[in-house]
Amino acid sequence: MTKKLFGRNGFFCSDCGYESLKWMGFCSSCHSNQPLVEAPSMPSSNTKRWINNASSELKELVSIAHDIGSRISSGFPELDRVLGGGIVRGSLILVAGEPGIGKSTLLLQIAHQISMTQRTITYISGEESNHQIKLRSNRLGISGENVFLLTETNVETIVERLEAKLPSLVIIDSVQTLSSFDVSLAPGSITQVRSSVRTLLEWAKIRNTPILLSGHVTKDGTIAGPRVLEHMVDAVLYLEGEPLSANRIVHSQKNRFGSTNEVAIFSMESDGLKEIADPSQTLLANRSHDAVGSSVVPAIGGSRPIMVEIQALTSPAYGPSPRRAANGIDPGRLVMISTVLAQRAHLNIGNRDVTVNVAGGLRISDPGCDLALALAIASCLKDLPIKQGLVPIGEVGLNGELRPVSQLDRRLQEASRLGFTSCILPVSAQHHKIQGLNPLFATNISMAIRIGLSNQTENHSP
Ligand code: TYD
Ligand code: MG
Repeated sequence: MTKKLFGRNGFFCSDCGYESLKWMGFCSSCHSNQPLVEAPSMPSSNTKRWINNASSELKELVSIAHDIGSRISSGFPELDRVLGGGIVRGSLILVAGEPGIGKSTLLLQIAHQISMTQRTITYISGEESNHQIKLRSNRLGISGENVFLLTETNVETIVERLEAKLPSLVIIDSVQTLSSFDVSLAPGSITQVRSSVRTLLEWAKIRNTPILLSGHVTKDGTIAGPRVLEHMVDAVLYLEGEPLSANRIVHSQKNRFGSTNEVAIFSMESDGLKEIADPSQTLLANRSHDAVGSSVVPAIGGSRPIMVEIQALTSPAYGPSPRRAANGIDPGRLVMISTVLAQRAHLNIGNRDVTVNVAGGLRISDPGCDLALALAIASCLKDLPIKQGLVPIGEVGLNGELRPVSQLDRRLQEASRLGFTSCILPVSAQHHKIQGLNPLFATNISMAIRIGLSNQTENHSP
């Protein structure tokens, strides 16, 4: 075999991006059977002729002008919030999502919004012709002044065109179509994509111009492109949504210039994506009141609370071990809460499957939603709805104890705004001034179930 064992630039896995100095016939990281491929050499001097040599000189921090970090508004206040206050100049932002979710639509709408502030935008597409983009812009009611289209996939040519125009914002749809002269592998291969993105990254930093890239991921996120690129770009936004729902949720997986907990909700309409200014209202719109196995809780999503509905369904388990399926909640959290319900609240859950869903396609990672999750499961098991107008708020410990949550006032305020009238809180909140809602206190999960579920003998009008 003539394969070089040691390459000058090392080798890496074309599936997961794992890097190794030594060639191997398989990947020891993702256990793929594909042999590692040789990493490309750095871009040749020919492709780097636009690089300003001054960028490699030493500069005292104090001498650097502050406006380097100033941001450009995307024209969508909700999206700006997810980005940490707008698009940072010189940053590389990856907008990832499944095919057909609306990435191209969002990017064209952003291009339009920014073009209205007299800035020029270069929109580069490797997937669609100018005519197809024009059709979409007609549908969106976008005239297209200051938006310049380029159908190109070669990164060296792209940089050449950008140098000629020096736009205020660059959009590239999609990252998977990029290729570079420096790499001989097929376009779309991870080597090509990485090398192309590296070139774009250098251009963005030197010209202090932001680049938005779109990238496809499959349901399980296995397509290597966007996942491997996560560490190269400054921010990764995920555009997600349920197949039959018009709701599209944007959240950041990584953001060098802001928090990663913020979410923005859009609705895909016949004329493009529209921001939803009141997510709580939208997420609770289709809720059936008095439903068994459903609880509502103000979850903290970044800087604000959002009311979410947690739904639970239990059924007899047929397999050797009961299934715990979670959609929108960390599966580990569901296993923990199920175990606590069995061991501390003595619920007969050990031989039942449990499926949990957060309505509207939102993902929550807020421990303050533990009690709502526990009560949704208990409600389904006992076939009793949660009391009307009640929000359970609290973190649950392994002993079944209820623990305090962060930002309690803002959660209560949001619940009260949406018409909720009472809440179950950990006893530690007794010293807290509760406004807007009637508080009920519980020390542990059993007590919370007792006071939280409707009793048929009670009259529970709101
Ligand atoms: P698109 O932006 O092409 O998705 P992606 O770039 O992520 O692959 O969006 C495609 C879907 O969005 C398609 O099913 C049609 C729908 N759509 C609307 O509902 N309204 C619109 O105004 C537009 C432009 C698209
Ligand atoms: Mg597209």
